Amino acid sequence: MGNIKIIETNDGSSSLFNEVLNETYHSSHGALTESRYVFIKSGFEAIYEGKEEVNILEVGMGTGLNAILMIEQALLHPHVKINYTTLEPFPLSSDLIDGLNYKSLLSEELTPYFEELHSCEWEKEVSILPNFTIIKKESTLEDLSADKDYFHVIFFDAFAPNKQPEVWSVDNLKKTYNYTAQEGIFVTYCAKGQLRRDLVEVGYEVERYPGPPGKREMLRGWKK
Ligand SMILES: C[S@@+](CC[C@H](N)C(=O)[O-])C[C@H]1O[C@@H](n2cnc3c(N)ncnc32)[C@H](O)[C@@H]1O
Repeated sequence: MGNIKIIETNDGSSSLFNEVLNETYHSSHGALTESRYVFIKSGFEAIYEGKEEVNILEVGMGTGLNAILMIEQALLHPHVKINYTTLEPFPLSSDLIDGLNYKSLLSEELTPYFEELHSCEWEKEVSILPNFTIIKKESTLEDLSADKDYFHVIFFDAFAPNKQPEVWSVDNLKKTYNYTAQEGIFVTYCAKGQLRRDLVEVGYEVERYPGPPGKREMLRGWKK
């Protein structure tokens, strides 16, 4: 995945910059703000109410920011069991992870969990809290196989379509649709017209939704 360096985004939180792709891991307007808004508020919070169990698939674990924010949610909602599956074909080095400032920006209570989610074994389901399990797969979405209708929420957090078009292929989107539970939701920061059309083509009911700071819109797809 090339040379990667740590950068600071506009809300003070760290992100990474991949020099070969010339692409950041998060919005330069604020990594933490973007993750909280796009994935937690517009994804998890849109569907968890009334559910005892929520299965989440993340495409692109990267820094683990979405994962630690979901652990924060698990602590806030002890009655909801969260099963988090995350894909990362190019795991980051521990030097990069250690250089991120998320621990200092989030509640101190989360520090040991941030470390555990990075140090835990790959390809194995690990219980981090009584109501939070994670399985990290060193795999692309292209190579994933999962159960039909299993995931209530898909966090689609790949690099932008112009940088990694293969990840946003219609075949990959068909796959996520197949794995999305009935009444489940696909969320992404991306608002491109081509993606909207492709999501409709594979079967999602697509909604343009107000975006995080610096972005007018993002997309959400519902499986009805
Ligand atoms: C925008 S970054 C992810 C940001 C991440 N969620 C975070 O909070 O740091 C995109 C991630 O997708 C990963 N990736 C690249 N190709 C992929 C593929 N084919 N399937 C799944 N993930 C992929 C990259 O290595 C990178 O970590």
